[in-house]
Amino acid sequence: MEQNFIFFDKDSEYIKRIQNENYIYEKEHSIKRFGFVLTFGCQQNEADGEKIGGILRLLGYELTDSPDNADIIVVNTCAIRAHAEEKALSIIGQYKHLKAKNSNLIIVICGCMTAQESRRNDIKFKYPYVDIAIGTSSLHRLPELICKRRGIERRQILADEDYSIAENLPVVRESGFRAWVSIMYGCNNFCSYCIVPYVRGRERSRKKEEIIAEVHSLAKEGYKDITLLGQNVNSYGKDLYTDYAFADLLSDLASIDGDFILKFMTSHPKDASDKLIDVMSKNTKIARHFHLPLQSGSDKVLKEMNRHYDRERYISIVRKLREKMPDIAITSDIIVGFPGETDEDFEATLEMLEKVEFDMIYSFIYSPRNGTPAAKFDTQIAQEIKSERFDRLLKLQNEISRKKNQRHVGETLRVLIDGKSKNNDSVWCGRTEANKIVLFDPDGFSEKDIGTIKEMKIKRADTFALYIK
Ligand code: 5AD
Ligand code: SF4
Repeated sequence: MEQNFIFFDKDSEYIKRIQNENYIYEKEHSIKRFGFVLTFGCQQNEADGEKIGGILRLLGYELTDSPDNADIIVVNTCAIRAHAEEKALSIIGQYKHLKAKNSNLIIVICGCMTAQESRRNDIKFKYPYVDIAIGTSSLHRLPELICKRRGIERRQILADEDYSIAENLPVVRESGFRAWVSIMYGCNNFCSYCIVPYVRGRERSRKKEEIIAEVHSLAKEGYKDITLLGQNVNSYGKDLYTDYAFADLLSDLASIDGDFILKFMTSHPKDASDKLIDVMSKNTKIARHFHLPLQSGSDKVLKEMNRHYDRERYISIVRKLREKMPDIAITSDIIVGFPGETDEDFEATLEMLEKVEFDMIYSFIYSPRNGTPAAKFDTQIAQEIKSERFDRLLKLQNEISRKKNQRHVGETLRVLIDGKSKNNDSVWCGRTEANKIVLFDPDGFSEKDIGTIKEMKIKRADTFALYIK
């Protein structure tokens, strides 16, 4: 299939015009113009948010972490569940008063929420102070749209025209040692509950040369934790190559010099290949972690979800992973309360949790999404039942996670040190290859240890963390 690749021109006329205006502003006011980016949702969105930051900085805006003093605000939205959209809309509502204070403020909404026509219409009619609304694959057009809006042109509310792949976008990475690398965009799977294929389009892979070059330079710059991203990384390359699959890419990337750990997400069980498991087991640079969304433990529900695998197939992948890599951590996504889920179906999910013993799960209450098949099923589950099942699932998994974590006691694990923990300044934290949190006393560590990988002996563990004392 022909892919449409766009090379982002960092010297375009639009960019030069905004840079110039922002430069004049800075000279006149002795202060730069500020840009604020707010990202909701998954890692793919985080990665897009870092590119939006890169574009704003290229345009001459200084990035700020507060919307209050911003001259441009970009909200990068998520649509996976109703709650994500509600949160974004509520925050966008709060920006109205900022526009009243600063009429030059430009407000941009992008991402999965505004990739839907109905939501763009909401923005158009109910949020008249929003200047620009675009979807998920028009980020490369931001300079043009900002430039036009800063001129005298009307609001720019646009659908994604084509799902092209833009290379050469600038990026401001949040961390100096963890990096996202999108290897593909979109999804072809149409799980019956999921909005993603409708808002991110069909699967498009980046060229292997571009990905390899990006990982090379990240390794050279000293990044320690490099995560390859895609909605279904296991189908990487199918749209571009006949003889080069995700396992080949992973193998090529693992042979790049440097002291870094290679991670990837997300994998679809129907496409997880033996070759991939083999490549992982032969390369210690690839994290001993596999995120493999199960979604439900009931074969009937899996069928209705359009997942194309059953319990048996799922268990056989887990078995193969553990045969080749006994120390591998396996994590998963589970949805409770999918339409038609009976008590027996839910019990089957609990049983799978016990059987597989996931290290961790991300659990979600089913949220009907407009435009997806499951939203129209007439077997929707009552909210109280969904919540009750969710609580039971969490309780069981917490117990399993605690047990799994306690098995690490006495082991020496590679830990990437993040520094101060979020909740407590006097405790430091780091992450294992499998993304498990390690908490420790900073005594004996210094600032220069942040962003380095250290071997740590685990002394204690609970449901949520490992400890070295
Ligand atoms: N409701 C609840 N959870 C959902 N997910 C995707 N769509 C929905 C939905 N409509 C979950 C799936 C997916 C994860 C990213 O989000 O578990 O793997
Ligand atoms: Fe959504 Fe399924 Fe695609 Fe994942 S594989 S993004 S759950 S449609």
